[in-house]
Amino acid sequence: IGSAVGLGSIWRFAYVCYENGGGAYLIPYFVALVTAGVPLMILEYGIGHKMRGSAPMSFVKINPRWEWLGWWMVIFVMFGIVMYYAVVIAWCVCYLWFSVSLAWGPDPNTFFFQQFLATTAGPHVIGDIRSPILLALVMVWAACWVIVFFGVEKGIERANKIFMPLLIGLILLLVAWNFTLPGAMDGVRRFLQPDFTKLMSPKVWVDAYSQIFFTLSLGFGIMIAYASYLPRKADINRDAWITSLVDTAVSLVAGLAIFGTLGYMASVTGKPFEQVVTHGIGLAFVAYPQAISVLPHFQQLFGILFFLTLTVAGIASAISILEAFSAAVMDKFHYPRKAVVTVLSIAGFLGGIIFATGGGLAWLDIVDHFLSHYGLFIACILQCILVGWLYGAKHLREHVDGLSTLKIGRLLDVSVKYVIPAALAYLL
Ligand code: ALA
Repeated sequence: IGSAVGLGSIWRFAYVCYENGGGAYLIPYFVALVTAGVPLMILEYGIGHKMRGSAPMSFVKINPRWEWLGWWMVIFVMFGIVMYYAVVIAWCVCYLWFSVSLAWGPDPNTFFFQQFLATTAGPHVIGDIRSPILLALVMVWAACWVIVFFGVEKGIERANKIFMPLLIGLILLLVAWNFTLPGAMDGVRRFLQPDFTKLMSPKVWVDAYSQIFFTLSLGFGIMIAYASYLPRKADINRDAWITSLVDTAVSLVAGLAIFGTLGYMASVTGKPFEQVVTHGIGLAFVAYPQAISVLPHFQQLFGILFFLTLTVAGIASAISILEAFSAAVMDKFHYPRKAVVTVLSIAGFLGGIIFATGGGLAWLDIVDHFLSHYGLFIACILQCILVGWLYGAKHLREHVDGLSTLKIGRLLDVSVKYVIPAALAYLL
């Protein structure tokens, strides 16, 4: 759950859902969850648990010629996704601080793009390194480093045992607070109001599948590594369902909180709802701060709660990426954990500096687009071929069903061998 619930579940889900038909988007979302999300989660948990290793090591045990696929997964998340992901967490840390004085002032849009990010004309103009972002990035990587440095039990497990209840408490507090605001219900209605015409567009389906992979951390090699630490007797199917459903519940509840606040803002400013919602990145860093500024009481506290929620969720996911790659290096080369984690944290920080420049936002968009669509889709298709056809879905099913009270049965074979690769190849 720590890995799954992240910036993707909270902030990406809200805007992707709104853009793709609101309530109607929940149809492709749940179709993607059931046809691909849960079966792939069971696959990754099952393989990691059975092979007791990181992604490359688990794949080697299936077929030595497929080790590269495991490396591909962990490399593109460690040297791609987490580098910009950590920068977005760094923005949240900065905004946590800005909340204290409502530093974004009367025009959060200009503040975010021009003052804070100082965006340049495009990716070809790198611009200056933004020192507040750089400083926050150091803090984010230092936090990840400390947690993963202390290992699975003393670091990751302990941190998540604090982070997850804290996160759920924060989100519930935000939702409860929202429901006291006038106009919030209107925002929620706008968020969930179905626009069924959107379902005809393939983009909505592509977005639903890539959201599911991103939000459940599938195709990242993370769930394989995490599952390798489970006790021998672990109810794999139940755990896969719990992780997927808790993540979905968090996404929905956080969506209610975000859109409730925007509904309130529309009602106090008298602006049409469409105008107060900014798409994409602007949702958390422009529209939300704007809404915080017009709250009747405790604006600072509300801002702190929101950005703390994003920071905590982001760090719990970032450590899982760092762990997935570190585990792969430790499995292969037997280097000590402390050295591996230290070197990787420094490398992750250095690689992320590009996203902390004026041209960083454009680079972030480019890298995110290619990795979260093509990178993930291809990795998931190949993973299904390897496990479904070469290893044999039957063997995987016997392993997971043997351990679980809730059996998945032949549904797993059909899904891993046919449905997921075919759906993803078509979407690709
Ligand atoms: N699963 C993580 C997220 O949703 C990566 O942000």
